[in-house]
Amino acid sequence: MDAFGHLAAHLGAYGLEWLNLLVRWLHIITGIAWIGASFYFVWLDNTIRPPAPDSELAKKGVSGELWAVHGGGFYNPQKYLVAPAALPKELHWFKWEAYSTWLSGFALLVIVYYLNAQAMMVDRGVADLSSWQAVGIGLGSLVVGWVVYDLLCRSPLGRHDLAFGLTIFAFLVASSYVLTHLLSGRAAYLHVGAMIGTMMVANVAMLIIPGQRKMVNAMLAGEKPDPVHGIKAKQRSVHNNYFTLPVLFIMISNHYAMTYRHAFSWAVLGAIMAAGVLIRHFFNLRHKGRIEWRYPLAGVAILAGVAVAIAPSAPAPAAAAAPGVDFAQVRTIIDQRCVSCHAAHPTQPGFATAPAGVMLDTTEHVSRNAARIYQQTVQMKAMPLANLTNMTDAERAQVGAWFEAGARTGKP
Ligand code: HEC
Repeated sequence: MDAFGHLAAHLGAYGLEWLNLLVRWLHIITGIAWIGASFYFVWLDNTIRPPAPDSELAKKGVSGELWAVHGGGFYNPQKYLVAPAALPKELHWFKWEAYSTWLSGFALLVIVYYLNAQAMMVDRGVADLSSWQAVGIGLGSLVVGWVVYDLLCRSPLGRHDLAFGLTIFAFLVASSYVLTHLLSGRAAYLHVGAMIGTMMVANVAMLIIPGQRKMVNAMLAGEKPDPVHGIKAKQRSVHNNYFTLPVLFIMISNHYAMTYRHAFSWAVLGAIMAAGVLIRHFFNLRHKGRIEWRYPLAGVAILAGVAVAIAPSAPAPAAAAAPGVDFAQVRTIIDQRCVSCHAAHPTQPGFATAPAGVMLDTTEHVSRNAARIYQQTVQMKAMPLANLTNMTDAERAQVGAWFEAGARTGKP
């Protein structure tokens, strides 16, 4: 056991599981609050219409407004060009949704991945890393991601939305490629998501909020706020908007081993991210009254293409006719490759209870879970987790043949 293993054991794997539950719950709640508010403001910005030129509103400096009904009340938000003439007494800011999403997400990254790096991040079939190396790569990816993104935004490229979008997309696909060649597929995907999430929150913390603060300070000093702060903030908030769908897919990707375990998992991720951006673009245009079906159709076509491209090959028909595999052999394989985690009291450091509630330590348990064992080890190759227990292809084939011949638990 290395330093991380000891630390995890010391904290108590069961306590860690509760911490995982609570922090994940918090992360989802804050994430919904943040993305929800952000979707609302994007919709608002795209939907408001300018008031009549010589109306009272126009004279007040209102550049757009709309009427909405929600929860039994009528709302009439108004947007001022740059700023109102005088600062209101009470001004609401939207920042803690974003900050707490990042903080809880980072805590979850530590709890799930960094404290259990050998099981959750290292795949010896990909690269034989120490826990520290894996964690270093993970943390490094977050820093490098932000630095590269921020430099690109400040470069002349930042002024050309499409060229910028394509460049940052290429950078993210390249990062996926590098990370999937260093970490387990699951950890690599999650780190691409954490990279994007870090860019989004850093945009709020380093650009959007400071820009707004400068505008407010200028007004407090009785000066006219410089519109450049608003323009810079707008650029970052547009980026954040397009990041949302890709990042949300990545945050649920750990349920879909068919994506992150694929030989070209980095390309699969790139394609799914592109589909998300195209679908988001459709909604942005639609708020402005333009219906452009080609974007979501292209997104759906990409997803369909990915689904076909990564479909597992059908089991060879010869397998059914193959001589039955002795169940004792299958039990031995499962004992060696699975039971360190999948038992009531796992011996694998960092695991307090049987993962996903699946126990494979008795004949009855194996028999009851036969179809899931087949799905996870033969079809999806998702298990053993990051192939931590070094299951061989020959063993997978044996489990496959056993299941296809009827998953019997006696002698053939
Ligand atoms: C290093 C620990 C570890 C080992 C070894 C391991 N698993 Fe798992 N297994 C997990 C974890 C963690 C989960 C929960 C999955 C998740 O969080 O996505 C899981 C989930 C599962 C599930 C439920 C998946 C679902 O979504 O329904 C099955 C079935 C499974 N494992 C089978 C196996 C089999 C069969 C083996 C041996 C070939 C194996 N596991 C080896 C850690 C392990």
